[in-house]
Amino acid sequence: MHTNVNTLFENLWENYLTVTPSAEKIHTLLGSSQSNDIINDHIALRTFNIEKVGLEKLAAHFIALGYKECGEYHFKAKKLYAKHYEHTDPNQPKVFISELLVEQCSEQLQKIVYDMVENIDENSITNSDFLYSGTHWQVSSQTYKRLLEESEYAAWMSAWGYRANHFTVNINALSHFENITQVNDALKNAGFKLNSSGGEIKGSPAVLLEQSSTLADQYPVEFSDTKINIPSCFYEFAIRYPQANGQLYTGFVAASADKIFESTNTR
Ligand code: NI
Repeated sequence: MHTNVNTLFENLWENYLTVTPSAEKIHTLLGSSQSNDIINDHIALRTFNIEKVGLEKLAAHFIALGYKECGEYHFKAKKLYAKHYEHTDPNQPKVFISELLVEQCSEQLQKIVYDMVENIDENSITNSDFLYSGTHWQVSSQTYKRLLEESEYAAWMSAWGYRANHFTVNINALSHFENITQVNDALKNAGFKLNSSGGEIKGSPAVLLEQSSTLADQYPVEFSDTKINIPSCFYEFAIRYPQANGQLYTGFVAASADKIFESTNTR
């Protein structure tokens, strides 16, 4: 495991950029040339609720660096469960980790997922690079498409494995943008496609969090039989509002996160 939180995020970021080339362009578009105002609000990671690689196994990497569990979320229709973690230093990004509730899926999906997880070397799970180690297996494009019919989440995992699914620009910290509508407009004017599932803006000031996201980049994946372009990772944008005590809300909103998951949908 990493001993320095910044090194972990730098590695996650470099790995994310390799399959998300739009992220650099978005930095240039939203950031100020005078100040370093692109602050990462949070990252998200995906896994399966299988003991060997369950969300607690991913979380252990963050807990070892001073993170604490701060909230849990249920996504019934997508068969997902998630928790979020915060560092004692509020300037460090929050971490959102979800897992697919495999036992609720078809026997065929369960078999595919167990075969994938079987291929992971047990010792690699605590290695410092596990959270950005990608896949430890190779599925066929047919298997990918079969998973896609049942769970976009499982299909994404089969192609991309362990890596940051998204990074998130903290709008509160941007010098040139006041609100999420301005950010969305700038992105659209520059040609980026936004996830419009549930509306371009998820959440509201009333729930203390507004979020939007791009649709994932398309990036080639080498399946066992062929190479195809599929959705990789995306960029999210979040603005947080103060709670009654004056502190900015630090949690997540399940109804919004539910729609954000769809940023990796095939189109
Ligand atoms: Ni997010």
